[in-house]
Amino acid sequence: MPLSPRSPYPVVSASRLAANIARMQTLANHAGVRLRPHAKTHKSPVIARMQIDAGAVGICCAKLSEAAVFADAGITDIRVPYPVNPSNADRVLVLMERVHLSIIVDDADVAADWSGAMTRAGKVLDILVKVDVGTHRCGVNPEASNVVGTITRIARLPGLSFRGLLSHAGHTYNAESAYALAAMVTSETAIMTGLAQRVREAGVAVEEISVGSTPSAALAATQKGITEMRPGTYVFLDRSQVGLGSATYEHCALFIVATVVSRPAPDRAVLDCGSKTLTSDGARGFADLPGYGAVFLSLNENQPDTSIVIERVSEEHAICRVPESSPLRPGDRVRVLPNHACTVTNLTDRLWLANDQGALTPLAVAARGRNW
Ligand SMILES: Cc1ncc(COP(=O)(O)O)c(C=O)c1O
Repeated sequence: MPLSPRSPYPVVSASRLAANIARMQTLANHAGVRLRPHAKTHKSPVIARMQIDAGAVGICCAKLSEAAVFADAGITDIRVPYPVNPSNADRVLVLMERVHLSIIVDDADVAADWSGAMTRAGKVLDILVKVDVGTHRCGVNPEASNVVGTITRIARLPGLSFRGLLSHAGHTYNAESAYALAAMVTSETAIMTGLAQRVREAGVAVEEISVGSTPSAALAATQKGITEMRPGTYVFLDRSQVGLGSATYEHCALFIVATVVSRPAPDRAVLDCGSKTLTSDGARGFADLPGYGAVFLSLNENQPDTSIVIERVSEEHAICRVPESSPLRPGDRVRVLPNHACTVTNLTDRLWLANDQGALTPLAVAARGRNW
């Protein structure tokens, strides 16, 4: 029997997906920057292939298990911009047999362990040094007095091929205005190109300066000195990206189709998509975006009904505050734009690709749950 979607289900507009892929590739091409999309957003080799066919040089994966799924599907150039621990050297060596793999390091001792593992195996692993440009998650501190010494030491280790510097301006998600976001991007460029220059002056070639996030992409692509960008969320976009000015609702490709299952009070309606579908992530944005997603009353509407707020989620319920005049009744269908696309795809085995006539085709989220 052919598969058919049951509510709640994630639907992806095929034409918007294609347009988002084309738009980012055009931006990168015009700027002369290589595009290496982060595949953590879609976890789908089919979408990765679309990105590569459009001109991407390869993909990024967050974890080695995720990378293995894409390697199995024939993707040959994978960067893991995650501080993989050398205790995983055996897994890295297996992947290196079939893909051009690169990882990041942000610690000289860890790099030395990678060097040892690769030297023992008679291999050379491409690495980039992760730089903290303000997110304060991972990365070397670009202001540390010994940072150039640390990087040059890492770059000269046997068994490693130092490619350059890499950053992720995740703090752009906390920007309070377009102006503040732009300042974060120009600061990121200044930090990265300035540090690269100092490393070069110390006698080490820096071939790549890789930056990447969706909110920063449009401006980052135009920055002098950047060689690669790695946005991920741009394929689907989401409510946070609209809030941060990276997209409009018309660009968003991924929605949850949900059903009203209860109207227990005049000011309350309950949908069948809870935190196990929408996640409990809040929305980012310059203005406050309350709730766990934006509700669109009809399946082809382009503006959300902001009088409906998903105030709470439990695992299988989205509890909405609605105007008393709302006609919503059990059985009615709505569409919800998730706050954060990447975590939503990780919760589902398949997406439903919708063509412009509304016909649905299942698309496996093949690397779903591959988070180790
Ligand atoms: C290291 C790294 N690079 C790139 C990205 C892609 O950024 P975005 O999700 O904003 O597109 C992420 C996302 O978390 C990331 O962690």
